[in-house]
Amino acid sequence: MNNKTLVFKIDESNFADTISKAADIIKQGGTVAFPTETVYGLGADALDPVAVRKIFEAKGRPADNPLIVHIASRDSLDIIAKDIPPIAFELMDAFWPGPLTLVLKRTSAVPDITTGGLDTVAVRMPDNPVALALIKVAGTPLAAPSANTSGRPSPTTAEHVISDLSGRIDAVIDGGAVEVGVESTVLDVTSDVPAILRPGGVSLEDIKKYVGEVVIGYTDQAVEEGDVVRSPGMKYTHYSPKTRVVLVEGDGMAVAAKISELIDNYSEKNMRVGLLITDETAEHVSADEMYSLGRRDKPEDAARNLFAGLRYLDERDVDISVSVSVNVNVIIVDGSIKCDGVGVAVLNRLRKAANELIEV
Ligand code: TXA
Ligand code: MG
Repeated sequence: MNNKTLVFKIDESNFADTISKAADIIKQGGTVAFPTETVYGLGADALDPVAVRKIFEAKGRPADNPLIVHIASRDSLDIIAKDIPPIAFELMDAFWPGPLTLVLKRTSAVPDITTGGLDTVAVRMPDNPVALALIKVAGTPLAAPSANTSGRPSPTTAEHVISDLSGRIDAVIDGGAVEVGVESTVLDVTSDVPAILRPGGVSLEDIKKYVGEVVIGYTDQAVEEGDVVRSPGMKYTHYSPKTRVVLVEGDGMAVAAKISELIDNYSEKNMRVGLLITDETAEHVSADEMYSLGRRDKPEDAARNLFAGLRYLDERDVDISVSVSVNVNVIIVDGSIKCDGVGVAVLNRLRKAANELIEV
């Protein structure tokens, strides 16, 4: 595989030139990580099976977990999808460009490897100028999963991408930190009643304004082997730091009291604690390493902080060269974040990342 990953720092002064260099790599069948509004994606030509294979190899992604195909204009829809129901167009009018992925029937132009062999294809139009320009200039839809090693927390900065994939991909476009911080909502509109297969940047409340009935087709738990799932991605571990993660959920005061008790217990065992914590809970407890999720009633801030926080605390364990930090043996996560809007997606990601869930 590649051993040198190019890093393109993009700004207004070099925008067109950078996009053109990155698009050339895509046209030659290479892989380029790029910012979207949700998380960084690892892109390749969605219609080129050889290029798409490189994405699976770089991430260590299981071959049956399909990729989202990103487009910059609805003109490209007909190339990849067919029999698109009217409700899909209504949702596109409402949410595109933006963090809503629609599962549609696929055309034969989309290779099996992109869809994991399914007869459907997941499509979205990202709301980020770098992503849109890259797709346009490359002149092809881009298959792009989150640009992390499979199973790790998703990347919200170019540094996260480099930390996971340096030497394994051709290039990364550094466009700064993303805006949303959790991935898109995946909505299957191929059946009579649409089903949410992954909660994300567009909330259930928002979708319900357009769709009369909607099924919740995901779980917050890691699915056991052999279970039947509608979205292959549900089968696999997700968002997991190497360090043990303990999630405490419930009402604010009760969560703060429980976390305080846990910190005492771990300290007695000489374990170092890292806290991923809301500002309110932080008024009551402290630990060796802390990372703020923001305020409990601001789930959009928690969305922006959660993956960066998990990565930060995880590194405190492995990176002994960082002399100012201590080794963290357990990460305690404060789950008192308000569970509505994007908060639903935040808690879903935290539950999937957790090794242990304590409800108080
Ligand atoms: O926000 C996002 O969606 C980011 C950015 C880069 O666009 N992408 C992303 O991709 O999160 P990925 O590959 O990490 O997650 C795609 C999810 C997986 O859970 C996968 O199983 C599901 O979408 N998926 C893809 N194609 C599908 C299909 N045809 N049917 C059902 N689920 C599908
Ligand atoms: Mg992912």
